[in-house]
Formats: sequence, structure tokens, C-alpha cells
Amino acid sequence: MSISLLTIVFLLSAGFAKVMAMFVNWVCAQKLARKYVAADKSLNLLLITAYPILLLYGLGGKEWPPSIAPVWWIPILMGAIGFTALVGATIRHWSYRPPLCEVSVVSQIIDLRATVDGVCWQDRLVGSRSRMRRVALLPGNEQFTIEVSTKTYALPNLPSCWDGITLVHLSDCHFHSGVTRAYFEAVCDQAAALNPDLMIFSGDLLDDQQRLEWLPQTLGRLRGKLGQFFVLGNHDWYLDHASTRQEFVRLGWTDLCQHPVTIAHAAHPDSTPLVLCGDETPWMGASADLSGIPFDAFRILISHTPDNIRWARENDIRLMLAGHTHGGQIQLPILGPIYSPSRFGCRFASGVFWLDPTLMYVSRGISGKEPIRYNCRPEVTRLVLRQSVTDIN
Ligand SMILES: [Fe+2]
Repeated sequence: MSISLLTIVFLLSAGFAKVMAMFVNWVCAQKLARKYVAADKSLNLLLITAYPILLLYGLGGKEWPPSIAPVWWIPILMGAIGFTALVGATIRHWSYRPPLCEVSVVSQIIDLRATVDGVCWQDRLVGSRSRMRRVALLPGNEQFTIEVSTKTYALPNLPSCWDGITLVHLSDCHFHSGVTRAYFEAVCDQAAALNPDLMIFSGDLLDDQQRLEWLPQTLGRLRGKLGQFFVLGNHDWYLDHASTRQEFVRLGWTDLCQHPVTIAHAAHPDSTPLVLCGDETPWMGASADLSGIPFDAFRILISHTPDNIRWARENDIRLMLAGHTHGGQIQLPILGPIYSPSRFGCRFASGVFWLDPTLMYVSRGISGKEPIRYNCRPEVTRLVLRQSVTDIN
């Protein structure tokens, strides 16, 4: 078998994997029961594995271009289309630049893997669930080294009385037995130290309903000077989301999906208010009804998925915080993220995007159903909003 044929099979296989990943990303963005999403992921893995084997079988060691039955051109065409998409996504990944309104970013990496009270980090942070424990302990896994950042953005139409307001954005805990409560307690210690005006959680608290008992010692004890606000995500929807919502509220958090919340400035009560609203669609509820809020209010949307960006722009949302995509969890060295459960694929896997008039921040989150991270650390981010004096378009 020639080198050129093997090269072509390799490139087509990469393209076919991209097509499959695009399909999984789209499926995971829909309101589908967990069993269908899981079945799609399994089928996807099977097809990606089978594709190069079948292709080599079909080509039968022939030289390129092969004389083969027409039916074989279907997978070849899929691979070619996927490879084109892969090149496009790679170019997009490398062309990404933060928006001009980004004033500064100060980040530090916090390595949580210290031995505390004589207990080594593997036993302190990694749960006992055997398969997940093996995943968490893979060499180079960044799951337990978190990035804590302060990012400052200058926004048009931010009322002067809110100049300098701070928000801590947390997302996607996915409590399960693969990662211990101690890990989330350590992450929450970092968030508490940032002492924000608004403490925000954008969904996916649980993958195991029993772990709701961790909430009081983790997110439940966090406070923002103006309050703490949450929405839930698709992984909460898979479970008993009513109980999760109830527990958050019991611990002093405000459920943004019940109705928008208007916050007047304490020192300037007659000035422009902030309005916070939530969006758990497509999994739960409906998008917020903003018809009753002040016309000039500075609108902030907390949405589990970045897919609601279109609604945000149409409704004059000035800041949108989202999670759900986890940054892809694994960002390949050249290609970037591959899996990102969004209708937009990997376009909004993580980062900050200016889509006039909305600044959207997509968090990589804190953990995941699988505790694995490469080039994609968990993050705790404090956003500082400043009043912009210039047009940022
Ligand atoms: Fe998630």
C-alpha cells in the first residue's frame, strides 16, 4: 500500500471525524433526552473508528485515484467535505482575537494539587468512581490546575453609576463522584476571594443528584455584594431540577429564570438600573419577557448555552454570560477544540465575543461529566465593566 494512499485515507478520516463531531455538537445543542445524546456519542465513536478501516478495505490497496464502485464515493465525499470544514475551523481558531473593548486581562494559574493534612492530592481531589478516577489521573490532565482571571471590558452605554461593577462568573460544576467536594470547595474559595458585586452561576451543577448535598459547602456559601444569581443547564434538566432550584434558593441564590431582576444603584436610586435575566432554553422554560423593564436599563443575560446569542442581540442585551461548551475540554495543539455542544460548533467554545450590541463571555467552566482537560483549564473569572468613552465597533 502506497504512502500517498495512506496519507489520503488519514486526511479523509480526519475530515470524517470532523463531520461526526459537527453532528454530535448539533445533537448536544438540542432538547433531547440524555439517552439519545449518549447513543449519538457512542455511534459517533464507532463510526470514526470504523471509517479508516472500511475505507482501506474499499480501496483495497489501490493507487489514487482508485477505480471503485460509486457507493464508495459517498464516504470519500463526506471525508473531503469534513476536511474542508476542519481547515475552516482551524483558520477561525487561529484568527480569533479578543474584542477591542477588552482593556486588560490578569490571570494566574492555581495548582490545587498540594498535599493537605497529609492527604495526597489524588485522594483529596479525585473521587473513587473507578473509570472517572482513571480519566482524572491521566498524565498532563489540567483538571486540577485552575485559571483565576480578572478581565476588564469597556462597554458602551454602561451607566456611569455602574462604572467598575464586578461579576464573578462560574459555570458547569457537574458534581459527580469522579471529583471530590474538596476540589469544588477549593474553587469556591478562589471565587469568594474575588469579592464581586454579582456572583453568577450559569448552569450544569449536577451529574449525580445525590451530590446536591455538596451545594451548601460550595456555591451555596458564595455571596455577591448585590446578590448571587443562577440558571440551570441541560445536565440539571436530566435530573431533578426542581429540587436543585429549590436548594439554590434556600441558600440565598436568586433564580433568574423565574423573572428578570432589576437592581437600582444604592447611592443613585434614580439612575439607570441593571436588569438581570436568565435563559435555560432550549431545555427549560422560555426566554425572558423584558416588556416590563425600563427602556434604558443595562441588560445582562445569563444563559446556559451561547446559542441564545441571537435572542440576546435582538433584545438589546449588553452583556451575556454563558457556559455549556466547556471550551471543548480538549483543545488540540493546532486544530483547537473539536467537541463543543453548540449549534455554532466550536465558534463559541470559550472566550469573549463582541456581537453588537452584545458582549458575550463564554466560560470554560469548572469541571465536566468527564474530568479531563488539555489546553483548556477550568476557570474562575471576575469581569470588571468600565464605561466606554469611544465607539468599540
Ligand atoms: Fe456542562
